[in-house]
Amino acid sequence: MLTLILAESSLETIPTRINKKGTAKIPNKKGKKRDQTILDIALHRQIIQKLPNPEKRGRPDITHLSLLAALGTPLNKQGQLRTYVHTIQDKIIKIDSKTRLPKNYNRFIGLMQQLYKLGKVPPEGPPLLTLEKMNLETLIRNLKPSETILFTEQGTPSKPKPIMNELAKQEKPVVIIGGFPHGEFSTNTLKLADKKISIYPEPLDTWIVVSRVLYCYEAIVLEKNKHK
Ligand SMILES: C[S@@+](CC[C@H](N)C(=O)[O-])C[C@H]1O[C@@H](n2cnc3c(N)ncnc32)[C@H](O)[C@@H]1O
Repeated sequence: MLTLILAESSLETIPTRINKKGTAKIPNKKGKKRDQTILDIALHRQIIQKLPNPEKRGRPDITHLSLLAALGTPLNKQGQLRTYVHTIQDKIIKIDSKTRLPKNYNRFIGLMQQLYKLGKVPPEGPPLLTLEKMNLETLIRNLKPSETILFTEQGTPSKPKPIMNELAKQEKPVVIIGGFPHGEFSTNTLKLADKKISIYPEPLDTWIVVSRVLYCYEAIVLEKNKHK
């Protein structure tokens, strides 16, 4: 089974403290709880400009589109994919493969706000989404992968097919794809990868890389399972 991690994803609630000393507070807007509002560049540009790595923040639509691309694959529908979102603030969202995310962006944001507030969704019964404070290194350590491949424009050039062909022979491979719009992975993330691979000489959108990588893996694994 393949594990997909969207890493350093641009999904977070509005920070209440923003400067380096951590002293400047963003005041609450009347009647609105800041700590449940998802940061979005279309609405919060001024706040984002005051944060570290502003180029990597305020794009929850990347997580939304990439999750739709991953959860809708036959690979996921046949229970051969595990999906996690690691966020830029070191939260881990675990997504049950049976989750049907809202296609509508505003509804997705509503769901994320509920997840940040309650730590799980739905609030009653077995959760489909859970959120906990955890860094990527701890997640990878817990997953005990057979190999971890990180996709980045700066990696070794390769077609996705031979890479995923190799991973399809393994028991617990992990792929890491960045869930942020611009900038680079942190050194902490880069050092967790066994290999860094570039599938195209220019930057691609996260959901395009997700689709291509999963399709290559799916083509091999589902075909193999047919003959079992
Ligand atoms: C919009 S990019 C982030 C920009 C970043 N400069 C980068 O490394 O490509 C989102 C993610 O998609 C993946 N990605 C984008 N272009 C890629 C490429 N040419 N080859 C492999 N992965 C790529 C990476 O995981 C990247 O973090």
